Amino acid sequence: MENIAEEGIRPFNVIIVFFSATGNTRKIADVIENKLSEFNVSVTQFDISSPQDRNKSISFSDYDAVFFGFPIYSLRAPRVCREWLMRQNGESKRCSVFFTYGGFGKEPAHYYIKELLEERNFSLVSTAEFLGAHTFNYSGWQAAQGRPGPSDLKVAEDYTIKTLERFRADDLITVTDFEKPPFPAEQLDEAEKYRFHLITQLPTRDGKECCLCMQCEELCPTGSMDAVRGVVNPESCIACFRCIASCPEGVLHTNDIANSWENKLKMHNTTKEEIDRMESRIFL
Ligand SMILES: Cc1cc2nc3c(=O)[nH]c(=O)nc-3n(C[C@H](O)[C@H](O)[C@H](O)COP(=O)(O)O)c2cc1C
Repeated sequence: MENIAEEGIRPFNVIIVFFSATGNTRKIADVIENKLSEFNVSVTQFDISSPQDRNKSISFSDYDAVFFGFPIYSLRAPRVCREWLMRQNGESKRCSVFFTYGGFGKEPAHYYIKELLEERNFSLVSTAEFLGAHTFNYSGWQAAQGRPGPSDLKVAEDYTIKTLERFRADDLITVTDFEKPPFPAEQLDEAEKYRFHLITQLPTRDGKECCLCMQCEELCPTGSMDAVRGVVNPESCIACFRCIASCPEGVLHTNDIANSWENKLKMHNTTKEEIDRMESRIFL
Protein backbone atom coordinates (compact mmCIF):
# COMPACT_ATOMS: atom_id res chain seq x y z
CA MET A 1 0.00 0.00 0.00
CA GLU A 2 1.25 3.51 -0.84
CA ASN A 3 2.50 5.56 2.05
CA ILE A 4 2.47 8.98 0.39
CA ALA A 5 -0.45 10.08 2.55
CA GLU A 6 1.72 9.91 5.69
CA GLU A 7 4.51 11.78 3.99
CA GLY A 8 2.27 14.78 3.43
CA ILE A 9 2.27 14.70 -0.38
CA ARG A 10 -1.49 14.27 -0.56
CA PRO A 11 -4.09 13.46 2.07
CA PHE A 12 -5.18 9.90 2.63
CA ASN A 13 -8.53 9.57 0.90
CA VAL A 14 -11.33 7.80 2.80
CA ILE A 15 -14.99 7.30 1.91
CA ILE A 16 -17.63 6.58 4.57
CA VAL A 17 -20.60 4.78 3.04
CA PHE A 18 -23.54 4.42 5.40
CA PHE A 19 -27.24 3.61 5.69
CA SER A 20 -29.18 5.28 8.48
CA ALA A 21 -32.97 5.37 8.79
CA THR A 22 -33.35 7.01 12.20
CA GLY A 23 -29.97 8.73 12.61
CA ASN A 24 -27.92 6.45 14.92
CA THR A 25 -25.54 5.15 12.26
CA ARG A 26 -25.18 8.67 10.82
CA LYS A 27 -24.08 9.92 14.28
CA ILE A 28 -21.22 7.41 14.32
CA ALA A 29 -20.31 8.29 10.71
CA ASP A 30 -20.04 11.96 11.75
CA VAL A 31 -17.73 11.13 14.68
CA ILE A 32 -15.49 9.08 12.36
CA GLU A 33 -15.38 11.92 9.84
CA ASN A 34 -14.41 14.47 12.52
CA LYS A 35 -11.74 12.23 14.00
CA LEU A 36 -10.23 11.42 10.60
CA SER A 37 -9.92 15.12 9.77
CA GLU A 38 -7.39 15.45 12.65
CA PHE A 39 -5.02 13.13 10.73
CA ASN A 40 -4.63 14.77 7.32
CA VAL A 41 -7.35 12.53 5.90
CA SER A 42 -9.70 13.70 3.20
CA VAL A 43 -13.18 12.30 3.90
CA THR A 44 -16.22 11.84 1.68
CA GLN A 45 -19.54 10.74 3.19
CA PHE A 46 -21.84 8.73 0.93
CA ASP A 47 -25.35 8.10 2.27
CA ILE A 48 -27.04 5.05 0.69
CA SER A 49 -30.29 5.29 2.66
CA SER A 50 -32.47 6.26 -0.29
CA PRO A 51 -32.92 4.21 -3.47
CA GLN A 52 -31.74 7.12 -5.67
CA ASP A 53 -28.40 7.19 -3.83
CA ARG A 54 -28.02 3.41 -4.02
CA ASN A 55 -28.33 3.78 -7.80
CA LYS A 56 -25.37 6.18 -8.03
CA SER A 57 -22.08 4.41 -8.59
CA ILE A 58 -18.93 4.65 -6.48
CA SER A 59 -15.52 4.01 -7.96
CA PHE A 60 -13.62 2.58 -5.01
CA SER A 61 -10.36 2.95 -6.92
CA ASP A 62 -10.66 6.72 -6.24
CA TYR A 63 -10.17 6.10 -2.48
CA ASP A 64 -7.44 4.66 -0.27
CA ALA A 65 -9.88 2.98 2.13
CA VAL A 66 -13.56 2.62 3.00
CA PHE A 67 -15.72 2.69 6.15
CA PHE A 68 -19.16 1.08 5.86
CA GLY A 69 -21.85 1.83 8.45
CA PHE A 70 -25.07 -0.17 8.81
CA PRO A 71 -27.79 -0.66 11.41
CA ILE A 72 -28.45 -4.29 12.37
CA TYR A 73 -31.81 -5.58 11.13
CA SER A 74 -32.72 -9.12 12.20
CA LEU A 75 -29.11 -9.94 13.18
CA ARG A 76 -27.43 -8.66 9.98
CA ALA A 77 -26.89 -5.57 7.85
CA PRO A 78 -30.25 -4.69 6.21
CA ARG A 79 -31.14 -6.61 3.06
CA VAL A 80 -31.15 -3.44 0.92
CA CYS A 81 -27.54 -2.77 2.00
CA ARG A 82 -26.42 -6.33 1.32
CA GLU A 83 -28.04 -6.20 -2.12
CA TRP A 84 -26.26 -2.92 -2.81
CA LEU A 85 -22.93 -4.42 -1.70
CA MET A 86 -23.42 -7.40 -4.01
CA ARG A 87 -23.25 -4.95 -6.93
CA GLN A 88 -19.96 -3.34 -5.81
CA ASN A 89 -16.36 -4.16 -6.68
CA GLY A 90 -13.95 -3.43 -3.83
CA GLU A 91 -10.92 -3.20 -6.12
CA SER A 92 -8.85 -4.88 -3.33
CA LYS A 93 -9.34 -1.84 -1.06
CA ARG A 94 -9.05 -2.06 2.71
CA CYS A 95 -12.31 -1.45 4.53
CA SER A 96 -13.94 -1.51 7.94
CA VAL A 97 -17.58 -1.92 9.02
CA PHE A 98 -19.39 -0.34 11.97
CA PHE A 99 -22.86 -1.41 13.07
CA THR A 100 -25.41 0.21 15.33
CA TYR A 101 -27.92 -2.02 17.09
CA GLY A 102 -30.58 -1.88 19.77
CA GLY A 103 -29.01 -4.23 22.33
CA PHE A 104 -30.19 -7.62 21.08
CA GLY A 105 -28.60 -10.11 18.61
CA LYS A 106 -25.61 -8.88 16.63
CA GLU A 107 -22.94 -11.60 16.30
CA PRO A 108 -24.11 -12.90 12.87
CA ALA A 109 -23.78 -9.37 11.47
CA HIS A 110 -19.97 -9.44 11.79
CA TYR A 111 -19.59 -12.94 10.35
CA TYR A 112 -21.86 -12.43 7.36
CA ILE A 113 -20.55 -8.97 6.43
CA LYS A 114 -16.98 -10.31 6.39
CA GLU A 115 -18.04 -13.12 4.07
CA LEU A 116 -19.86 -10.72 1.75
CA LEU A 117 -17.12 -8.08 1.63
CA GLU A 118 -14.42 -10.63 0.88
CA GLU A 119 -16.61 -11.98 -1.91
CA ARG A 120 -16.78 -8.44 -3.33
CA ASN A 121 -12.98 -8.06 -3.29
CA PHE A 122 -12.62 -5.88 -0.16
CA SER A 123 -10.14 -6.61 2.67
CA LEU A 124 -11.85 -6.15 6.05
CA VAL A 125 -9.41 -4.84 8.67
CA SER A 126 -11.78 -4.19 11.60
CA THR A 127 -15.41 -4.05 12.65
CA ALA A 128 -17.26 -2.33 15.50
CA GLU A 129 -20.70 -2.39 17.10
CA PHE A 130 -22.35 0.61 18.75
CA LEU A 131 -25.46 0.71 20.90
CA GLY A 132 -28.21 2.78 19.27
CA ALA A 133 -31.77 3.49 20.42
CA HIS A 134 -33.86 0.62 19.02
CA THR A 135 -36.04 1.68 16.09
CA PHE A 136 -39.02 -0.02 17.77
CA ASN A 137 -38.77 2.46 20.66
CA TYR A 138 -40.94 4.57 18.33
CA SER A 139 -43.63 1.94 19.01
CA GLY A 140 -43.18 1.58 22.76
CA TRP A 141 -40.01 -0.46 23.42
CA GLN A 142 -37.30 1.00 25.69
CA ALA A 143 -34.11 -0.56 24.30
CA ALA A 144 -30.85 1.41 24.46
CA GLN A 145 -32.64 4.72 24.95
CA GLY A 146 -30.38 7.75 24.54
CA ARG A 147 -27.70 5.72 22.71
CA PRO A 148 -25.33 6.28 21.10
CA GLY A 149 -24.25 8.39 24.09
CA PRO A 150 -20.92 9.94 25.14
CA SER A 151 -19.28 6.58 26.02
CA ASP A 152 -20.22 5.16 22.60
CA LEU A 153 -18.86 8.22 20.81
CA LYS A 154 -15.55 7.79 22.66
CA VAL A 155 -15.34 4.19 21.45
CA ALA A 156 -16.08 5.51 17.94
CA GLU A 157 -13.06 7.85 18.17
CA ASP A 158 -10.83 5.03 19.37
CA TYR A 159 -12.17 2.75 16.60
CA THR A 160 -11.35 5.43 14.00
CA ILE A 161 -7.74 5.75 15.17
CA LYS A 162 -7.12 1.98 15.37
CA THR A 163 -8.72 1.41 11.98
CA LEU A 164 -6.76 4.23 10.34
CA GLU A 165 -3.56 2.61 11.63
CA ARG A 166 -4.55 -0.60 9.85
CA PHE A 167 -5.58 1.27 6.70
CA ARG A 168 -2.16 2.95 6.55
CA ALA A 169 0.02 0.02 7.60
CA ASP A 170 2.40 -1.41 5.01
CA ASP A 171 1.24 -4.95 5.72
CA LEU A 172 -2.40 -5.96 5.50
CA ILE A 173 -3.82 -7.24 8.81
CA THR A 174 -7.37 -8.47 8.44
CA VAL A 175 -9.93 -8.59 11.23
CA THR A 176 -10.16 -11.65 13.47
CA ASP A 177 -12.27 -14.58 12.22
CA PHE A 178 -15.81 -14.57 13.61
CA GLU A 179 -17.54 -17.74 14.72
CA LYS A 180 -19.99 -19.16 12.17
CA PRO A 181 -23.49 -18.40 13.55
CA PRO A 182 -25.87 -21.28 14.29
CA PHE A 183 -28.48 -19.66 11.99
CA PRO A 184 -27.99 -20.29 8.26
CA ALA A 185 -28.36 -17.18 6.10
CA GLU A 186 -31.58 -18.58 4.56
CA GLN A 187 -33.21 -18.75 7.99
CA LEU A 188 -32.23 -15.14 8.66
CA ASP A 189 -33.63 -14.14 5.25
CA GLU A 190 -37.02 -15.55 6.28
CA ALA A 191 -36.85 -13.83 9.68
CA GLU A 192 -36.01 -10.51 8.05
CA LYS A 193 -38.89 -10.83 5.60
CA TYR A 194 -41.63 -11.68 8.05
CA ARG A 195 -40.63 -11.27 11.69
CA PHE A 196 -41.08 -7.55 12.08
CA HIS A 197 -44.51 -7.70 10.45
CA LEU A 198 -45.56 -9.87 13.39
CA ILE A 199 -44.30 -7.28 15.87
CA THR A 200 -45.14 -3.91 14.36
CA GLN A 201 -47.81 -2.85 11.94
CA LEU A 202 -46.81 -0.68 9.02
CA PRO A 203 -46.48 3.10 9.30
CA THR A 204 -49.69 5.01 8.55
CA ARG A 205 -51.16 8.51 8.79
CA ASP A 206 -54.55 7.02 9.65
CA GLY A 207 -56.27 9.44 7.27
CA LYS A 208 -55.04 12.50 9.23
CA GLU A 209 -54.34 15.71 7.29
CA CYS A 210 -50.73 16.77 6.71
CA CYS A 211 -48.88 19.54 4.84
CA LEU A 212 -47.82 17.09 2.06
CA CYS A 213 -44.17 18.10 2.27
CA MET A 214 -43.53 14.67 0.65
CA GLN A 215 -40.43 14.12 2.78
CA CYS A 216 -41.57 10.66 3.91
CA GLU A 217 -41.99 9.58 0.29
CA GLU A 218 -38.72 11.12 -0.87
CA LEU A 219 -36.65 9.61 1.95
CA CYS A 220 -38.21 6.12 2.08
CA PRO A 221 -35.30 3.66 1.59
CA THR A 222 -37.45 1.30 -0.49
CA GLY A 223 -39.79 3.73 -2.28
CA SER A 224 -42.69 2.21 -0.32
CA MET A 225 -44.38 5.34 1.03
CA ASP A 226 -47.32 7.00 -0.70
CA ALA A 227 -47.37 10.44 0.95
CA VAL A 228 -50.66 11.52 -0.60
CA ARG A 229 -52.54 8.49 0.74
CA GLY A 230 -50.38 8.27 3.89
CA VAL A 231 -49.84 4.50 3.59
CA VAL A 232 -46.94 2.20 2.70
CA ASN A 233 -46.69 -0.75 0.33
CA PRO A 234 -46.68 -3.78 2.67
CA GLU A 235 -44.73 -5.86 0.12
CA SER A 236 -41.67 -3.62 0.08
CA CYS A 237 -41.72 -1.69 3.42
CA ILE A 238 -38.78 -2.80 5.62
CA ALA A 239 -40.18 -1.17 8.80
CA CYS A 240 -37.12 1.05 9.18
CA PHE A 241 -39.39 3.91 10.36
CA ARG A 242 -37.45 6.55 8.43
CA CYS A 243 -40.81 8.05 7.44
CA ILE A 244 -41.89 8.33 11.08
CA ALA A 245 -38.54 9.76 12.19
CA SER A 246 -38.49 12.35 9.42
CA CYS A 247 -42.12 13.54 9.51
CA PRO A 248 -41.97 17.23 10.55
CA GLU A 249 -45.56 17.12 11.84
CA GLY A 250 -45.31 13.80 13.68
CA VAL A 251 -48.49 12.49 12.05
CA LEU A 252 -47.08 9.11 10.97
CA HIS A 253 -47.09 6.27 13.46
CA THR A 254 -47.39 2.50 13.92
CA ASN A 255 -49.24 0.41 16.48
CA ASP A 256 -48.22 0.57 20.14
CA ILE A 257 -46.13 -2.54 20.97
CA ALA A 258 -45.26 -1.56 24.54
CA ASN A 259 -46.96 -4.73 25.79
CA SER A 260 -44.47 -6.93 23.89
CA TRP A 261 -41.47 -5.27 25.57
CA GLU A 262 -41.38 -7.52 28.66
CA ASN A 263 -41.68 -10.61 26.44
CA LYS A 264 -38.83 -9.42 24.26
CA LEU A 265 -36.62 -9.07 27.34
CA LYS A 266 -37.65 -12.53 28.60
CA MET A 267 -36.98 -14.10 25.20
CA HIS A 268 -33.43 -12.73 25.30
CA ASN A 269 -33.04 -13.51 28.99
CA THR A 270 -32.05 -9.92 29.75
CA THR A 271 -33.31 -6.73 31.44
CA LYS A 272 -33.59 -3.09 30.43
CA GLU A 273 -30.81 -2.26 32.92
CA GLU A 274 -28.52 -4.92 31.48
CA ILE A 275 -28.97 -3.44 27.99
CA ASP A 276 -28.34 0.07 29.37
CA ARG A 277 -25.03 -1.18 30.79
CA MET A 278 -23.88 -2.73 27.48
CA GLU A 279 -20.85 -1.15 25.89
CA SER A 280 -19.91 -0.47 22.29
CA ARG A 281 -17.05 -2.67 21.06
CA ILE A 282 -14.24 -2.77 18.51
CA PHE A 283 -13.06 -5.98 16.79
CA LEU A 284 -9.53 -6.05 15.37
C1 LIG B 1 -36.50 -4.11 10.97
C2 LIG B 1 -35.54 -3.88 12.10
C3 LIG B 1 -34.90 -4.98 12.68
C4 LIG B 1 -33.99 -4.76 13.74
N1 LIG B 1 -33.32 -5.83 14.26
C5 LIG B 1 -32.46 -5.65 15.29
C6 LIG B 1 -31.74 -6.77 15.84
O1 LIG B 1 -31.80 -7.90 15.35
N2 LIG B 1 -30.97 -6.54 16.93
C7 LIG B 1 -30.85 -5.30 17.49
O2 LIG B 1 -30.17 -5.16 18.50
N3 LIG B 1 -31.47 -4.22 16.95
C8 LIG B 1 -32.27 -4.36 15.87
N4 LIG B 1 -32.89 -3.26 15.31
C9 LIG B 1 -32.61 -1.91 15.85
C10 LIG B 1 -31.58 -1.12 15.01
O3 LIG B 1 -30.47 -1.92 14.70
C11 LIG B 1 -31.07 0.13 15.76
O4 LIG B 1 -32.12 0.89 16.24
C12 LIG B 1 -30.15 0.96 14.85
O5 LIG B 1 -29.32 1.77 15.65
C13 LIG B 1 -30.92 1.86 13.89
O6 LIG B 1 -29.99 2.60 13.13
P1 LIG B 1 -30.36 3.97 12.38
O7 LIG B 1 -30.87 4.94 13.42
O8 LIG B 1 -29.09 4.43 11.78
O9 LIG B 1 -31.40 3.65 11.37
C14 LIG B 1 -33.76 -3.43 14.24
C15 LIG B 1 -34.44 -2.36 13.65
C16 LIG B 1 -35.31 -2.57 12.60
C17 LIG B 1 -35.97 -1.39 11.97
